[in-house]
Amino acid sequence: MKQKISQITKEVDSFQAKSLEEVVVFRLKYLAKNGLLNALFNDFKNVSETEKKEVGRAINNLKIKIKEKISAFSEIKKQIKTPTNFDLSRPAKKNNLGSRHPLSLVESEIVRVFSSIGFNISEGPEIEDDWHNFTALNTPKEHPARDMQDTFFIQTDPDILLRSHTSSVQVRHMQNNQPPIRTISPGRVYRNEAISARAHCLFHQVEGLYIDTNVTFADLKQTLLFFAKELFGEKSKIRLRPSYFPFTEPSAEVDVSCNICSGKGCAVCKHTGYLEILGCGMIDPNVLDNCGIDSKKYTGYAFGMGIERIAMLKYRVNDLRLFYENDVRFLNQFSSEI
Ligand code: PHE
Repeated sequence: MKQKISQITKEVDSFQAKSLEEVVVFRLKYLAKNGLLNALFNDFKNVSETEKKEVGRAINNLKIKIKEKISAFSEIKKQIKTPTNFDLSRPAKKNNLGSRHPLSLVESEIVRVFSSIGFNISEGPEIEDDWHNFTALNTPKEHPARDMQDTFFIQTDPDILLRSHTSSVQVRHMQNNQPPIRTISPGRVYRNEAISARAHCLFHQVEGLYIDTNVTFADLKQTLLFFAKELFGEKSKIRLRPSYFPFTEPSAEVDVSCNICSGKGCAVCKHTGYLEILGCGMIDPNVLDNCGIDSKKYTGYAFGMGIERIAMLKYRVNDLRLFYENDVRFLNQFSSEI
């Protein structure tokens, strides 16, 4: 018996595991129910009383040895899993994060500025009827001003069209709300134009509407100056030029001082020092009446701007088409913006 134990001990001592499979085989050989260790314990019954103490200790020592061998192997495995020879200073692999689209960035910036002075947001359908897009806005059928916006009509129903501006949302808002009204309407609009670096058949607008008692052109001017300073910087100036829109009277086009040359004159502003950013005016009383607002009691102003145009000025993009091609080399440049 003693000889058997010392022989197994030698075997265990010399065991060197090269793989996990070998360790499994080793464990089964000695520790399984019908393994060698249990066989020794069975034989132990036959050991004489005088030798029992010595043999018992030897078997127990052998058991400890076998367990140590197995746990030594799992220590080695742990070391393999967590190597110590890796280079902590090595640059991490770059993850390709998505970025917000420049048009979304500019839209949320415009929304932020107007929200901060009490405007809410209104939305409406992109497929509109003639009345909301034109007639309610003082532009009845056959009115020459309809030519200002080349419109997509639905062929089977000349009364249905793709909205050519989000002024149609303002009409809906006036129908459903009474003054005081302060709302901006961001959204996609469509015009039947040839695609070029400066024009597209779809683009995005933010239009604004303010109606209350005693609203004047001075309120409009001050609001737009605040907007220009927030968006293009504190030093920005604005300039208003008389213009025409069928739904506003008087009407104006607004220029902002060129943020590239600070108004000194450069190629971008064609040496004028100013860039056109939006159209505006005092809402024509006919429009208020058409939409159920008493024009004798209330006055208001409206303005509208193209998001693409503002984004082109802000990020110095010289081709509008870049906004729709979704070339990641273009879009990645905006990944650092929020
Ligand atoms: N709706 C006009 C456009 O799309 C912009 C505008 C809005 C002008 C409100 C004046 C007042 O061109």
